[in-house]
Amino acid sequence: MKTVGVFDSGVGGLSVLRALLAELPGVRFVYVADSAHAPYGERTVAEISDRSERITAWLRHTHHIDALVVACNTATAMAIDSLRATHPDLPIVGVEPALKPAAASSRTRHIGVLATRGTLNSERFARLRTQLENSAVSPVHFICQPCDGLADAIERDDQQTQQALCERYVTALREQAPGDMDTVVLGCTHYPFAANVLARLLGSDVALVDTGAAVARRTRDVLNMATKPDALATPPQLFSTGEPSALASAAKRWLGLQTQAGKLTV
Ligand code: DGL
Repeated sequence: MKTVGVFDSGVGGLSVLRALLAELPGVRFVYVADSAHAPYGERTVAEISDRSERITAWLRHTHHIDALVVACNTATAMAIDSLRATHPDLPIVGVEPALKPAAASSRTRHIGVLATRGTLNSERFARLRTQLENSAVSPVHFICQPCDGLADAIERDDQQTQQALCERYVTALREQAPGDMDTVVLGCTHYPFAANVLARLLGSDVALVDTGAAVARRTRDVLNMATKPDALATPPQLFSTGEPSALASAAKRWLGLQTQAGKLTV
């Protein structure tokens, strides 16, 4: 049986784990929430690279993982190059805001992007954005909104703050949009867990796009595995550098998992 490590700054990567469990039921997943150091969105490249390296080293030494999924847009933007350089023999799948799928499906060509400040300020994001905005065939316009505090409110399951911040950021998106937005990219793996609130605020004409399913398909390709929808699902192992019971209850609430989480110190 293959083992895949998955990590995020906290509980947000559970949105990616949900897609991985559906796509690859025959794989053993080990999930790490770095909740003691969340949120990553306002941290430096050096801090995030250090956290990503410590977690990856632990997943390799303790769980002998066959592949790693960086289930965090911010850590992908800031640390995936250094992780790949340090672990050239380990297949590593990253997560980046779904600008390409959004550009492929948008009719109005005005697309909102909600993400952390770290992701939006990264070179990786700038490259992807410029490439699509300057497309000779079918250019698009991205309206980018950093969502300070939103991942943290989701991390703490603070519904009231989530509602207030979503209202603030949706209003800001609308104010900046030069035309009708028909698509909004959820560029942080925490945000699918606020999708209901965002969908209510944006209205039914706006499609929300996230990357969970695409990342799961890419992981299957990397592992070179065939689809086995009837394989017996293996419960994932969960670890948190913060409060393990908070991770276990988020996994129960959002994924229906009845799994305990362990405490991790790295
Ligand atoms: N879930 C992460 C992301 O996709 C990080 C959010 C945060 O910790 O700020 O960007």
